[in-house]
Amino acid sequence: MFKVNDNYLKLPGSYLFSTIGRKVREYQEANPEKKVISLGIGDVTQPLAPAIIEALHSAVDEMAHAETFHGYAPDLGYEFLRSAIAKHDYADRGCMIAADEIFVSDGAKCDSGNIQEIFSVDNKIAVCDPVYPVYVDTNVMAGRTGTYDPKTEVWSDVIYMPCTAENNFAPELPKETPDLIYLCFPNNPTGSTITKDQLQVWVDYANKVGAVIIYDAAYEAYISESNVPHSIYECEGARTCAIELKSFSKNAGFTGTRLGYTVIPKDLKSGDVMLHSLWARRHGTKYNGAPYIVQKAGEAVYSEEGKKQLAEQVGYYMRNAKTIKDSLASMGYTVSGGVNAPYIWLKTPAGMTSWQFFDLLLEKANVVGTPGSGFGPSGEGYFRLTAFGTYENTLAALERIRGL
Ligand code: MLT
Repeated sequence: MFKVNDNYLKLPGSYLFSTIGRKVREYQEANPEKKVISLGIGDVTQPLAPAIIEALHSAVDEMAHAETFHGYAPDLGYEFLRSAIAKHDYADRGCMIAADEIFVSDGAKCDSGNIQEIFSVDNKIAVCDPVYPVYVDTNVMAGRTGTYDPKTEVWSDVIYMPCTAENNFAPELPKETPDLIYLCFPNNPTGSTITKDQLQVWVDYANKVGAVIIYDAAYEAYISESNVPHSIYECEGARTCAIELKSFSKNAGFTGTRLGYTVIPKDLKSGDVMLHSLWARRHGTKYNGAPYIVQKAGEAVYSEEGKKQLAEQVGYYMRNAKTIKDSLASMGYTVSGGVNAPYIWLKTPAGMTSWQFFDLLLEKANVVGTPGSGFGPSGEGYFRLTAFGTYENTLAALERIRGL
């Protein structure tokens, strides 16, 4: 008789954004005349930039001819894209990352969920609280998190690093020593960042205790302040302790096109074993590569035209971020984030839980956001709005919130 992986049964509820999607669908079915505005999931609304569309078209044309047709992509990504990433995202910033240390994939969500597979189930993870739920949920599925206490919403074997207003939403070094440390900066969900000096402290700590930092830099393109690092490899010693995850979703609008990459330096080892080799083995066995046409589109992100167009797109979303932040502040909300990140983190009005505020906003303002408690216990009493809507919808949503 077969048995299921009963770690799955430990997962409370469904995936955060599935729950929100269901609630919104139910509301919309019951109220078909209402025009709901979503500032919930961080999905982009601007079309792909012209340079990317052009690259896609021309790659599609190549697929139409036997001489230029492409079948399976190389396991780890096409050389043209890996080299463009190594140059533009690393060498140009003074970081030493070789093209063959970059693994192209179909997005950072999958990589951030899958990366835990190359580590022992005995490893102890440390996460920020609140946190992007994929990090914890995938470790639950792997059987690494112990038991869940529904009262405190805490897993017994996870080290939580609270990120609260008191510490400016920046985690402190944990008291208990972890093996794997998940960090995401600019942060999802709080929109906070840490400086290069602060990140250096984490790198030094990880090297000292023999931990690996899994650094999610999906929102790097939104950094506007000069002391905020774009990559963990800007820090000395990161090559021996850090894996970096990057996405093309937020900087270039690939949420539906799917492209990302993971960097594993060859210096990152457990004894003689390179994590690079394990991830290459995993990638080769379980993955057939991002489509050629999508990797060509990814290459266009680094062209002169592409860079210019994408800077404008990021600017568009950051105008939304500023508008949301300023408007909410003028209404008396306590807000943070939105300066180096496309997320605004606000305190719910006195006495309201995150989900109560979600319901109020959905039912009375027809605006969707993300309840802070969905990201972890320290997110209770907070709420996340995204700057990825259209400018018009962002203004309309704010008017409706003002009218509450
Ligand atoms: C979010 O809303 O947190 C993100 O869009 C989810 C993701 O990128 O997977």
